[in-house]
Amino acid sequence: MKATATAHPNIALVKYWGKRNEKLILPHQSSLSVTLGPLQVTTTVEFTKLTTGPDVIEINGKSAEGTERTRVVELLSLVRKQAGAKAKLGGAIMISRGDFPASAGLASSAAAFAALAVAARAAAGFERDPRAESILARRGSGSASRSIEGGFVRWNRGKRADGNDSFGEQLFEAEHWPELRMLVGMVSREEKEVKSRDGMRSTVETSPYYPAWAKDAEREVKEIVKFIKRRDLQAVGEIAERNAWRMHATALAANPPLCYLKPATLAVIEACRYARQQGIGVWFTLDAGPNPVLLTSRADEHKVAELIRSHGADDVVHCVPGGDARVLSQPGKRIGGRA
Ligand code: PMV
Repeated sequence: MKATATAHPNIALVKYWGKRNEKLILPHQSSLSVTLGPLQVTTTVEFTKLTTGPDVIEINGKSAEGTERTRVVELLSLVRKQAGAKAKLGGAIMISRGDFPASAGLASSAAAFAALAVAARAAAGFERDPRAESILARRGSGSASRSIEGGFVRWNRGKRADGNDSFGEQLFEAEHWPELRMLVGMVSREEKEVKSRDGMRSTVETSPYYPAWAKDAEREVKEIVKFIKRRDLQAVGEIAERNAWRMHATALAANPPLCYLKPATLAVIEACRYARQQGIGVWFTLDAGPNPVLLTSRADEHKVAELIRSHGADDVVHCVPGGDARVLSQPGKRIGGRA
């Protein structure tokens, strides 16, 4: 009844922005991301038997409170429910640690809920099942559905009201494109004022551009897959940039407007454009925060890191396509085999 699992965060090349069902976390459109190795979150879950006591939740050495705690407890309760009364899963102890700062603006919640979903299911005695894990992780944070499998993952929008066809699906393994690099430029470490969850709700409700965004993003997912298959950095980079601009344009048109960019974000974006004129293959993407993620190749990695630093970033986090979420230990069970 105890297991430890690890998962990487991911960066969306075609973003998820907006839910059609807030409770089940079902998106209005499909999205596509690449998993970010070597960054990872490692989570241990232990279910106690027949205990009615509250769950103990520790994240990065601190006891979790408020919404952060509620979201974890809700996910653990879903696992208890799925395991059924016979399993007698009581209160849980969950300990989670990330090896990258939550403030990096990377979707740390994606890695956190993916590791939690895998660890909790394993602790409850379920066999590995990426689809079921992705659906469960999605209930914690939408983007977490794309951190169960590694490499290039599409989160299918799905059509069903129960959400059972809305999960992350690996299209290409990390090994498909080992030369690809994702560099996060740390231009700000401030907590963002509007969390993704609230930002997307407000965008869906008030941005007149929202229907166009959702329709276009669905098309862009189809388009980018062809270019990822060919490892065409320029075509992938152009779609990723355009998609990021369109997401931010849609959010800017909300009421009140949502602007996640800082002056230094724009400085790095401008620097990308200038670098391309100098023959460096680099494109940006940007989540709901100020820190741009630059897409480049191994050959240009160091030049791009230099460029980001000289335009206001105080640190650069280097990433490569990462692998699947994994169960690291499960007492009483041989990993990858039978109990
Ligand atoms: O999964 P959430 O609620 O953290 O939302 C993630 C939203 C973006 O990071 C902006 C886009 C994405 O697809 O990851």
